[in-house]
Amino acid sequence: MNSPLSESRFLKACRGEATDCTPVWFMRQAGRYMSEYRAIREQHSMLEVINTPELAAEVTLQPINAFDFDAAIIFSDILPPLMGMGLPLDFVKGVGPRIDKPIESPADVEKLTADGAADVMQPTLDAISIVTSELTPRNIPLIGFCGAPFTLACYSIQGAGSKMYEKAKAFMYTYPDAWASLMNKLVDVDAEYLIGQVKHGASALQVFDSWAGVLSVSDYERFIQPYNTRLFEKISVTGVPLINFSTGTSTHLDQVSQCGGDVIGVDWRISLDQAWKQIGDKSIQGNLDPTVLLGPWDEVKLKIDEILHAAKRRPGHIFNLGHGILPPTPIETVKRAVDYIHESTK
Ligand code: CP3
Repeated sequence: MNSPLSESRFLKACRGEATDCTPVWFMRQAGRYMSEYRAIREQHSMLEVINTPELAAEVTLQPINAFDFDAAIIFSDILPPLMGMGLPLDFVKGVGPRIDKPIESPADVEKLTADGAADVMQPTLDAISIVTSELTPRNIPLIGFCGAPFTLACYSIQGAGSKMYEKAKAFMYTYPDAWASLMNKLVDVDAEYLIGQVKHGASALQVFDSWAGVLSVSDYERFIQPYNTRLFEKISVTGVPLINFSTGTSTHLDQVSQCGGDVIGVDWRISLDQAWKQIGDKSIQGNLDPTVLLGPWDEVKLKIDEILHAAKRRPGHIFNLGHGILPPTPIETVKRAVDYIHESTK
């Protein structure tokens, strides 16, 4: 297949091919730093936006219309699939996500169903169809995504965001069999969801393992690696590039990379040239610290230059942040950064 979309800068870089300049997109690029997004959120709750395909499509396109990003990411969140499994949740203003009744015991894990998830995800699949019909003629690929099993398990057991996820980790150590069962159910739901996203038009998939860094290396190998490996194996049938993103894992990117993925997403705790040594000939995505965008332009430019210098225009670099963009980020800085990355890599 030689469609123009597959020749887009972003997809070429995912495949490790040379590009005319370095492609760029930002995690959480649709969000509160944009006034257009805040205007929609004044009228609709987070779940309303996610569950109304036209609204989710509109929000997905906002950053694409405002900046010269090389890829879009479908607007949703990593947590809705949990609702379909029997874990109702809400996004509480000023607090973040809250699971009504978090998992407390192995019996709670047994009650979870993988079957109910498909219905809950349908609005996002419909939003993908709308967005891709708009973006494909513009030659911009759409990224589909899910939360990695560990990061979803953290929320399912902890019930909310946390620094250490101590409840989730205690459950993992105390009930290893129930942990395996929970992780396998999450793998099955994730895989079905991601395959559905590609069927509806997504051109690449990203797995977000945002909290993997709370585990030691040996615990990563024992409690995460088998499940992420199974997930990447399952979704490889889609044939699209797979991005394996985590934070706090720069001490063991080789194990992260062994789980799978054509592109490894890295945070700012390691330089790209060092990270690249650990992941071999895969593509790399990253790795500007999102807080840098809150500083003056000279500092932003310095940090972008540092990253581009470490990447050395080696084919297979996708510029991104090391984690999601922060709500106070100035629009003007985003615009300047995206244009600067393109201009200085031509
Ligand atoms: O990247 C994108 O633009 C696509 C949309 C997207 C959102 N969340 C929208 C969102 C994606 C890919 C995510 C992923 C996500 N969600 C992750 C993994 C990436 C990461 O940042 O670590 C995680 C851990 C979550 C869980 C989550 N959702 C948290 C902790 C919060 C609250 C914290 C916060 O930033 O407000 C959310 C809410 C959320 N998800 C918002 C957005 C735009 C803010 C909701 C609002 O409008 O108030």
